[in-house]
Amino acid sequence: MALTAYVPSIPQPAKRPASRVQPAVAQRPSKIALLGFGTVGRAVAEILCREPRPELQLTHVFNRNVQRKRVGWVHDSVTWTQDVNEILNSTADVVLELIGGLDPAYEFIRRALLSGKSVVTANKHVMAKYGPELLLLAHQTGQRLEYGASVGGAVPVLTAVQQGLSGDRLLRICGILNGTCNYILSNMERNGTTLAGALHKAQQLGYAESDPSDDVNGLDAACKLAIVARSAFHAQVNAFHIPRQSILEIQPADFRYARQVGCTVRQVSHAELTGKRLCASVGPALVPLNSALGNSIDNDNAVLIRGEKSGDTLLAGKGAGGQPTAVAVVSDLLSVRQGSGAESPSLLTMLPIAPVKSAHYLRLSMSGKRSGVISAVRRILADHGIGISKVLEREGKNTLHAGYTLQSCSPATLNKAAMQLSKLEGVSQRPLLLPILSTHIGDK
Ligand code: HSE
Repeated sequence: MALTAYVPSIPQPAKRPASRVQPAVAQRPSKIALLGFGTVGRAVAEILCREPRPELQLTHVFNRNVQRKRVGWVHDSVTWTQDVNEILNSTADVVLELIGGLDPAYEFIRRALLSGKSVVTANKHVMAKYGPELLLLAHQTGQRLEYGASVGGAVPVLTAVQQGLSGDRLLRICGILNGTCNYILSNMERNGTTLAGALHKAQQLGYAESDPSDDVNGLDAACKLAIVARSAFHAQVNAFHIPRQSILEIQPADFRYARQVGCTVRQVSHAELTGKRLCASVGPALVPLNSALGNSIDNDNAVLIRGEKSGDTLLAGKGAGGQPTAVAVVSDLLSVRQGSGAESPSLLTMLPIAPVKSAHYLRLSMSGKRSGVISAVRRILADHGIGISKVLEREGKNTLHAGYTLQSCSPATLNKAAMQLSKLEGVSQRPLLLPILSTHIGDK
């Protein structure tokens, strides 16, 4: 398949500073203008105000309806504003974008770079969609753009890919990149919490996006996966082309069935180079109970990075929430200050994306008697050449579910079979199909 060159279009900056190093700043604290005083913005402000660092000084806070955001513990010297121009025309050195979403965050980042300010952002939507363009703009304007907090919360996934493991040829990224889904699924598994109840709690704890459908439908993790894959594979990856499956269909029965084959359910993001294509997916998957991913609970993220020579490197820790993400943000502010770790922009080719091939778990929910349905299921799977590895045990006489593990086959074949299964009389919901990631995701 042909690779398409991705050439970002860049506006001309007003002027290009002679040097990226600003010696005058080294003598005084870097002035930080914070855009967005939500969960993460507030947690960053707390670090900057309550545990002051001589090299970082909070000078501005921007938010809509800013008056209702004011808090007494922020120094009186800080300017609170709802006019972004006040920030862009100020003497701030670094604009810290923590608004989230594409609009107006993308435009604010662009304008900040063009007005001669470095930018630190935790914005995965902007960096997934406009990352190469903005990195090139930062390079052209002699500014820094750091976005380590956009992936993994406090877990330094991007630093590992861009620096620690950059000496290797990276082959695969596989892991948990969304804390909200991990909180939901691990609490369903371990505490019997309902999906709705766990999502509500994740929202209260500040893990979920303002629209939590981005978490549960996998878009949040797909953006993060696209950002990491871009750095790991030096290629442009469109987050919207990554196949996604929602976690909303997961039921308590799925954890019980998964346990019969030594597994549990987690939302897994997977990207793997296969020739000139990227096999990628985001969605719920069966992972071994006794693995790094199976042992991840609450707002953890856990990512395995496979390199040609380094093998698998596991990074794990708190992946969502105000404080863990604020730590990553402050680390990026310090990196801008120290002039370390800048990513060079490069011309990237667009990697076509293919679905991941694997063994699958199948669960059918039935409205009435099982007997007729069960034989029809066997026939349909056999007709499509899909082998059954294991028929999972019924949970009781009156169970309205049937569970199977299936041998590896192409996603297209599986989808055709699932379509026919869903039309069977007595099958009450769309059959649930989940990949089984058993042998290659960090079994202990
Ligand atoms: N909603 C995101 C998550 C926040 O749950 O992972 C951190 O990016």
